[in-house]
Amino acid sequence: PLPPPFQVPLPIPPVLKPVATAGGIDRYEVTQREATAEILPGVRTPLWTYEGVFPGPTIESRRGRPVTVRHRNELPVPTVVHLHGGRTAATSDGYPTDLVLPDGWPGTAQGMRGGHHAMAGMHGMSGTHSTGGMRDPRAVETRLTRDYTFPLDQRPTLLWYHDHRMDFTAPAIWRGLAGLHIVRDDAEEALGLPSGHRELPLMIADRAFDAGGALAYPALDPSLRDRPGVEEPYLAGVLGDVILVNGAPWPVHEVDAARYRLRVLNASNARHYELEAVTDDGRRLDLVQVGADQGLLAAPVAHRTLPIAPAERYDLVVDFSDVPVGGRVRIANRLGSGRTRDVMAFRVARTARDGSRVPRVLSADLPSWRRSDAVRVRDLSFRAGRMDGGHGWLIGGRAFDPARTDVTVRLGDIEVWRLVADVHHPVHLHLAGFRVLSRGGRRPLPRDAGLKDTVALRPGEAVEIIARFDGYRGRYLFHCHNAEHEDMGMMANLDVV
Ligand code: C2O
Ligand code: CU
Repeated sequence: PLPPPFQVPLPIPPVLKPVATAGGIDRYEVTQREATAEILPGVRTPLWTYEGVFPGPTIESRRGRPVTVRHRNELPVPTVVHLHGGRTAATSDGYPTDLVLPDGWPGTAQGMRGGHHAMAGMHGMSGTHSTGGMRDPRAVETRLTRDYTFPLDQRPTLLWYHDHRMDFTAPAIWRGLAGLHIVRDDAEEALGLPSGHRELPLMIADRAFDAGGALAYPALDPSLRDRPGVEEPYLAGVLGDVILVNGAPWPVHEVDAARYRLRVLNASNARHYELEAVTDDGRRLDLVQVGADQGLLAAPVAHRTLPIAPAERYDLVVDFSDVPVGGRVRIANRLGSGRTRDVMAFRVARTARDGSRVPRVLSADLPSWRRSDAVRVRDLSFRAGRMDGGHGWLIGGRAFDPARTDVTVRLGDIEVWRLVADVHHPVHLHLAGFRVLSRGGRRPLPRDAGLKDTVALRPGEAVEIIARFDGYRGRYLFHCHNAEHEDMGMMANLDVV
C-alpha cells in the first residue's frame, strides 16, 4: 500500500538535548534499540534506531565545542558509530572492529577476519567466516556502552552519524542506523542565509518494503550475526523503490514564498540521484549551492540539476518567491524511473517577508592547495575483482583487511590521490577534507566545488583529489560509500603517522 506522492508531511528529526553542558563539553546519551514506525500509512515497520526514531535525533553543535556521545547498544548485534565528515581522533572515529557489544554477545566472535572473506560465505563455501584468522591488533570491544568524543574543531557543515560495523554496515544503515549532526559557527550565521524554520535538513534514502511493511534487504543472513553479504543479484548495491526524505515517503512541506536553505544528504546505500526543482508550469528553479560536504563554498554556484551520490551533502538555497501561492515545486530525480523519479514537494502556502540573503562571498578559509604543494601522488583503483573465490570490490586490487596497512601518510603532508573507477564509486576519506583537482583529465565539474569528503567517481573515470592530512595520528579509513561495495571489500586502511 504505497501512498500517493506528496501527501505525507515532511518530518523534521528531533534535536537531541544534551544531558550535561558543564566544563565546555556537551554530553549526550543515545540508546540504540529496536523500534517501529509508521512509514507507510497504516503499517508499522520494525527498525533499528538511535533513540527510537529514524532518522536518529539531530545533534546541534558549535565549532570547536567538543561533544561526547555515550552510545548504549540494546540491539541484538554489535554496532560501531562513525561521525561521517568529523575530524575525530582515531579512538572515537568508529573503526569497523571497534565494537560496542550488546549484552550477552560472545566476547571474541567478531572483530576478526580469517582466510574466508564475506564473499566466501556468499558462495556457499562457508557460513562462518573469520575463524582462526589473524586478529586485528587494533580491535577494541566494549560492552553495552561506549563514549565517543568529537572535538568538532572544523568548518561548520552537515555531518551524519551512522553504523560502521565491518561487513554489516549496509544492512545496519538500511534498518535505520543514521542521523544528522550539524556544526555551526558565528561567521556562518552572520551571512544571513535562510534560517530557523526556513532551514531544512533533508536526508534522502531509498528503501524497499515487503508485503507486511517490513524493510526488505536481501541479506544472506538476516540476523546480521555472522554471515555478511547480500544475495548475488545485489552485489552492485541494494536499491529501494520507495524514496524517503527524513523517513517519510515522497513527503510534502508547506513553505512561505521565500528563500529556504536545504541541507541535503544522500543517505541511500547505493542510489544516485540527480535533483531538480520543478514548478507546476515546468520551470526549473535554481539550486543555489552555498556549501559542500565540508562546509561553505567560497562563492555560490547555481545548478539547474544536481547529481548527488551516496554520502554526499549539498547545502542549497532555493527561492520560492516567484512561485504563486498554492503552487507546488517538485523535487525530482532525473535518474529515476516511475516512482523513483519523485523525491518530495514543496507547496507554497503564503507570501511572506524575507530578510535572508545569499552573499557573493561565503567564506575565505577554503583551502586552496596547489598540485605543487603535494609531496606525493598516489594511484588507487576502485574495481570489481575476485576475492576469496567469489566476487568482491577491491581497492588497488585488494579487499579490506583490518590487519593490513594500505596507505601511510605523514601528519601534515599534502598529497594528490588519483582515483580510477570501473563503475560508479562514491569514494570517502575519513579525517581529511579534500578538493577535487581534475575529473576525467579536465577541470572539475560544478558539483565538485568546495571542500569535500566524498567524491563521486563515474564509470571509467579518473578523479584527482588533493588533501592535507592533519589533525590526528592513527588508523583511519577510506572506502567506497556504496554501502554494499564497502561491505564487500571496498575499504582500505589509512594510517596517519
Ligand atoms: Cu559515512 Cu566510513 O563512512
Ligand atoms: Cu563502489
